[in-house]
Amino acid sequence: MKNKILIAPSMLSSDFSRLAEDAKRMQDAGADMLHIDVMDGHFVPNITIGPVVVENLKKHVKIPLDVHLMISEPEKYSKSFISAGADIVTFHIEACCDPSGLISEIKKQNARPGLVINPPTDFVKLKSYCSLVDFILVMSVNPGFAGQKFILSVLDKVRELRKIYDKDVEIDGGINYDTAKISIEAGVNVLVAGSFIFGSKDAKETIRRLRG
Ligand code: DX5
Ligand code: ZN
Repeated sequence: MKNKILIAPSMLSSDFSRLAEDAKRMQDAGADMLHIDVMDGHFVPNITIGPVVVENLKKHVKIPLDVHLMISEPEKYSKSFISAGADIVTFHIEACCDPSGLISEIKKQNARPGLVINPPTDFVKLKSYCSLVDFILVMSVNPGFAGQKFILSVLDKVRELRKIYDKDVEIDGGINYDTAKISIEAGVNVLVAGSFIFGSKDAKETIRRLRG
């Protein structure tokens, strides 16, 4: 069975002074979930938002919040993000020394766990944890900033992954109509897109066309 194509606008490209307004706009435009990029200035060279922002945002939208933790020691903070309203929590395989432990913690708190892999990281690192998570997020840029160019070679990782994994495969970074198409062909079914959706005149039409 083919997985449904889901669109997750990345709030990193929203106007942070109007976060709630932008989140509702994305929901009304047909987004399936909202992608929230959490950066700590340590695991990645940028700082974004913490649980308090997630908690406030949660009051304004009904669609799931997909919280992407780009932080060191994600096991220290996942709980606060879930209490704040995160429905999906994804963390980097490069940032965690006990992925299985954190996956069960996330499940215990009734959120859905996902693992993220950076472009230079070998797929083998992830392999033994695949069966434990609901999402695998394949980074198609080096994490930290919106608006970067899609790294084509990560699609090999997606193809490799699809041989053993039939749940949701997300891709994040540099998504536009062309990269969305080739990503879906490779086996991706959840598209995270920041600058492309927020930079478009008609978010609804952009989301509709990204779905293919
Ligand atoms: C990058 C973030 C992405 C980012 C994507 O580190 O994880 O979610 O917002 O932005 P675009 O779609 O502009 O590449
Ligand atoms: Zn992200």
